[in-house]
Amino acid sequence: MGVYVVTGSASGMGQAVTLRLRADGHTVVGVDLAGAEVDADLSTSEGRSAAIGLLLEKVDGPLDGAVMAAGMGPKRGRERMLVEVNVLGVTDLLEALRPKLAAAAKAKVVVFGSNSTTSTPFVPRMAIKRLVDGDAEGATRILKRRGSLSGPASYAASKIAVARWVRRICVTPEWAGEGIRMNVIAPGPVMTPLLAGQLKSSTASQVKSFPVPIREYGTPEQLAEWVMTMLSPAADFMVGTVVTVDGGTEALLRPDDWPARLPLRLLPRMGWSMYRAPKRGQVADYSDT
Ligand code: NAI
Repeated sequence: MGVYVVTGSASGMGQAVTLRLRADGHTVVGVDLAGAEVDADLSTSEGRSAAIGLLLEKVDGPLDGAVMAAGMGPKRGRERMLVEVNVLGVTDLLEALRPKLAAAAKAKVVVFGSNSTTSTPFVPRMAIKRLVDGDAEGATRILKRRGSLSGPASYAASKIAVARWVRRICVTPEWAGEGIRMNVIAPGPVMTPLLAGQLKSSTASQVKSFPVPIREYGTPEQLAEWVMTMLSPAADFMVGTVVTVDGGTEALLRPDDWPARLPLRLLPRMGWSMYRAPKRGQVADYSDT
């Protein structure tokens, strides 16, 4: 049986994942504002440091996986808090947990993104860039300029940044090279306290008009099932994938945006091997691993 860290373990999808893991006999160290093994506020650097200290204490051996589900929904006026929880609450904790993940055999990390990443207009690129670089203050300054759109823009920017961070580092020697499989799950609207709160807020009409072709909301249990697969040996060959589970919104809005063409500037990363006869020893052979 394995040992897992789950953030946002006290509610919604994080709680559903925690229950599934425990039902299968795994040990879960949950992190949340209250009611978890580690109670901490991930919206401040002090809170994140406290969470990291307690996690490193409670997980005394290798860590088989981490599920980063703690998050805040869009709300104008709470942009700074939102980007800190949704981005730094993931990246700071994962950086600190990396050695423990590397110590496990084939550890898995699942980060909660969102399909708002591909369905929200007017998300400022500079804010995303700042967030990927860990600059919450600079990003917030830019996001606040969006006025009434700052809530949805901050949320989408936070989720784009975290997905980009994952895709950039998951392939590096420190992560994939150490056997850690890191991926993102991008849900559409799922009926949790977060969505229920939005449906009661002043933005309810916007939330209700969000197109979901399958004409129903997802459930936390359905998403937990996908996370369980992404934590299982089925995901041993899965790195850097964004798994969208959204009732069809993404396909409805952007049917032809996938696959994106490989830009010419990236060809050197492939060693040009597709375009010349490979030299001896140039083609990696993993058949013995
Ligand atoms: P939820 O509100 O039910 O659960 C989120 C958990 O994060 C809560 O237990 C909350 O206390 C915790 N959290 C929030 N701020 C925190 C902080 N400062 N410190 C520590 N913990 C904190 O939400 P839900 O819906 O289960 O969301 C899980 C993840 O999925 C979030 O990252 C969310 O952004 C994402 N998501 C949710 C969607 C939905 O429709 N419910 C859609 C797409 C993504």
